[in-house]
Amino acid sequence: MSDLRPIPVDDLTLEQAKAEHDALAAEIRHHRALYYRKDAPEIADADYDRLEQRLAAVEARFPELVTEDSPSQTVGAAPGAGFGTVTHAVPMLSLDNAFQEEDVRGFVDQIVRFLNRRDAGGLAFVAEPKIDGLSLSLRYESGRLVQAATRGDGQTGEDVTANVRTIRDIPQTLPADAPALLEVRGEVYMTRADFLDLNRRQAGRGDKVFANPRNAAAGSLRQLDARITAARPLRFFAYAWGELSAPLADTQWGARERLAALGFTISQPSILCTDVEGLLAYYARIGAERPDLPFDIDGVVYKVNDLALQERLGFRTRTPRWATAHKFPAEQARTVLKAITIQVGRTGALTPVAELEPITVGGVVVSRATLHNRDEIERKDVRVGDTVIVQRAGDVIPQIVGVVPDKRPQGAAPFTFPDHCPQCDSLAVREEGAVVTRCTGGLVCPAQAVERLRHFVSRNAFDIEGLGIERIQLFFEQGRIRQPADIFTLEAREAGRLDKLIAMTGFGRKSVENLFKAIDARRTIALDRLIFALGIRQVGEATARLLARSYRTVEHWGERMRAAAAERGEKPAEKKPELVGEAYAELCAIEQIGMSVADDICDFFREAHNVEALDALLSTLTTVQPYVPPRVAASPVLGKTVVFTGTLTTMGRSEAKARAESLGAKVAGSVSGKTDYLVVGEDAGSKAAKAAALGVKTLTEQEWLDLIAGAGPDAGPDMPPDRDTDPVPGTPAV
Ligand code: IVH
Repeated sequence: MSDLRPIPVDDLTLEQAKAEHDALAAEIRHHRALYYRKDAPEIADADYDRLEQRLAAVEARFPELVTEDSPSQTVGAAPGAGFGTVTHAVPMLSLDNAFQEEDVRGFVDQIVRFLNRRDAGGLAFVAEPKIDGLSLSLRYESGRLVQAATRGDGQTGEDVTANVRTIRDIPQTLPADAPALLEVRGEVYMTRADFLDLNRRQAGRGDKVFANPRNAAAGSLRQLDARITAARPLRFFAYAWGELSAPLADTQWGARERLAALGFTISQPSILCTDVEGLLAYYARIGAERPDLPFDIDGVVYKVNDLALQERLGFRTRTPRWATAHKFPAEQARTVLKAITIQVGRTGALTPVAELEPITVGGVVVSRATLHNRDEIERKDVRVGDTVIVQRAGDVIPQIVGVVPDKRPQGAAPFTFPDHCPQCDSLAVREEGAVVTRCTGGLVCPAQAVERLRHFVSRNAFDIEGLGIERIQLFFEQGRIRQPADIFTLEAREAGRLDKLIAMTGFGRKSVENLFKAIDARRTIALDRLIFALGIRQVGEATARLLARSYRTVEHWGERMRAAAAERGEKPAEKKPELVGEAYAELCAIEQIGMSVADDICDFFREAHNVEALDALLSTLTTVQPYVPPRVAASPVLGKTVVFTGTLTTMGRSEAKARAESLGAKVAGSVSGKTDYLVVGEDAGSKAAKAAALGVKTLTEQEWLDLIAGAGPDAGPDMPPDRDTDPVPGTPAV
């Protein structure tokens, strides 16, 4: 059991919660592995239960942290549902490694000697890529897949049958001429493209990203919930076999062809060669092709072709004598760290980047590598001028593995992480317990500007029709819109040179006129929308509404927030609990607003740039004064979780979502046991089957419309409709 966790769940910021969630999830997984796989728990059951309870509490407050692979999702209910074990009928062994040409020659010589031959003449070898995934054994009885198991310790593996049934590459049944009993062995892997896609999706949802395709494949296969595996793009290459009722062929090459005929994908590109020179040429060729292969490999494998000879050669303790792996050198290189620069992401996160003396790593020139965050630099003690070891993790993202201490130049100083944003000079702060340091110049920081503007005009904020992300990007690049106020002064600034605007943007005259109209229509805005639109950290729609309700007018709100920020002192880094004045106390007294949210609001108002940008905006707008909270009519879907699938005919997907949310429903992207309704449009995919399997109620579009007919928010006459009644303080869409 590790540390105490002193922060009450209610006081956690999203960042803190995320960090703790990651740590808890890791700890729980660690103990599960000990408990289920190693049968050697380190902690008492009650202590384990406490970890799970804390995780559940964090997830209850921050539902966005409930990831597919969260421990809360991966065990049905109580511990006890780990993988079953499978004892392999024929052990799953490993391969001996060859690194140098000499090792390969030694491999062949040994075979010649063992078989008591004069030389290697007459021998043949299959050479195939060594795929970097995890090995799997598939057992077919009477042509049907009955069991799938990981290698485990070679004797006993994990039963992953349910998960493997979701892998499309793996046949569930075999043709009639297949041996009655057949164990096919091979590698489960993920292509690089699928891995990058998966990581993009994971990152988009704020989920864990995998370091490389191998980890992604292993993590995906070893899910306790097969539905998660089903959603991951796993593939399988067959290259060997275990127990058999009848031989597949006389040769390795023939066996490969037989496996292919039975419906398996066999590892390619492969060749048959007759001497060491052929093997070495293949090694060189694959080494050159390696960066272009769609999947990661860590070497090539040579196998004696004649199966009768394989039989004679047999096995050492862990490895066959008839095969070896010729490994590629690790893709690492040494180079000099010239500088550490700071990149500002679109959410304001400051990421240190190593600027390197360009170096080739695995056939690719690398001149920059990520240093992740401040802690990482300190942990590795990376200093400018150091000679560093660069590695391409999973052949994709260059990383700094470490420094070469002997080569450190005299006087190389530890890196001082900046406390100001290099892009806009606003303060950069790191919240307690968080790893990320973030710029506070939300409204003015150029690195964040496009994202902020996108949020500003988004549906639940200013909702400006015709001002989508592409247009925002274009206007931003042209310098026409740099901050929110610019949207409302655009027409006046462009007056008299409309033709130029039309020419430079490629928009039609009508479209520009419509845009100006849409902007005009939003010159009057409800206070809660205005507050939400500012994109203050942790201030989502629900919190914005609470603020609007409490302060009523924008002037009053702005004035009190400035006062609260002043009370909290100059440097956010020196936040102290005792620095609480009247305005700050008043803010924290609002139900559901804790100190962490309050401090984020103060950080925003402490930044003069933000205040100026807000003032500029207000001078172009009228807010509806005072704020009148919307009245929400009774809703039949309040608190229900709804998933939409397929094409809806009467409305777009985002409209459907917004409408459902406005009625108090939660809209999810995928069907799970928690789904209440699946609304099925035209050309729906697999979700309906999944819903049926889970007993989730499905509705046609019309049934859905009937269900919600008559319900809806009853907004005041001057206000655009309000959206939802989410009781959880939301977070801005950054
Ligand atoms: S043959 C008796 N062929 O590499 C051993 N293994 O380092 C049979 N691997 O455990 C293994 N590609 O997971 C073989 N074309 C290939 C392979 C391959 C990858 C993996 C496999 C094995 C490990 C040994």
